Amino acid sequence: MVTRENPTPDETGQTSDTVDAVLDVVARSAPEIREGLPGRRVAHGEENPSGETQMAADVFADELLCERISEIENVGVYASEEREEGIDVGNGLSVCVDPLDGSSNLKPNAAMGTIVAIYDDDLPATGRDIVAAAYVLYGATTTMVTAREKTDTVTEYVIHPDGNYQVVHEELSLPDDPTVYGFGGRVPHWVEEFREFVESIESDPSMKLRYGGAMIGDVNQVLTYGGIFGYPTLGNAPEGKLRVQFEGYPVGYIVETAGGASSDGHQSLLDVEKDELHARTPVYVGNRELIDDLESYMADRD
Ligand code: F6P
Repeated sequence: MVTRENPTPDETGQTSDTVDAVLDVVARSAPEIREGLPGRRVAHGEENPSGETQMAADVFADELLCERISEIENVGVYASEEREEGIDVGNGLSVCVDPLDGSSNLKPNAAMGTIVAIYDDDLPATGRDIVAAAYVLYGATTTMVTAREKTDTVTEYVIHPDGNYQVVHEELSLPDDPTVYGFGGRVPHWVEEFREFVESIESDPSMKLRYGGAMIGDVNQVLTYGGIFGYPTLGNAPEGKLRVQFEGYPVGYIVETAGGASSDGHQSLLDVEKDELHARTPVYVGNRELIDDLESYMADRD
């Protein structure tokens, strides 16, 4: 566990200024990360702490963000999916980064993301300690979606190649009538209760499959069109694949702030408590009625 010397930032706006600074660094670094991808579509030769093969692009994005975020005043810890432990960089907020979410999409040239979660506590923090979360989506265009405690709203920005960015959507909220769904994991490994839930979704003529293999791309579909994304509990991996601190809490926070719901199958993702930095959890996010349905299908399962 990383311990900060000053776990409670003052209330003079310092937290808000730090959040501004972190989000600004992430947005301004996004074009460089994007430009750095060609030529880095190869394995780096190492595994990350979750046992996945690191791509050169994962390492590049991590080093760039680590260097810049560590310099921000009132950031206490920088932690990344690509590093075993958080790095103590000062006194203040803890910043968790997934530098390149969905990097297996590098080779086929499909969407990827960068995820950031900012916690007002030591790591591993809880979902209720989050003060802001954001993701960059490297799609046909580069966009950033942020959710902040200060405003309790979700904002979408478009990021230009020079690093400047502008708001394209204020107070983003999930559309009321959901239309898309996407679920990860091998279908033969889905548990019976989840399989039945998916069949109920598939029998709804208004729903269509959208699954791209990078969580951020798939979650952004749900924020745009309404629906549900999940990386479920699996027969051979009950905790699924996604990491709580780096993926579960930030997307749960963003989707809930946008008026949707999140779950690990039984409770809000923000109420999941794990005591390891790289712990995993099943992740389901989307429109409230779909998450309620999912939880009722999963209710018989512990
Ligand atoms: O972080 C892991 C990740 O790349 C997510 O972005 C994505 O949802 C998932 O893995 C895809 O996993 P799979 O290849 O098993 O569908």
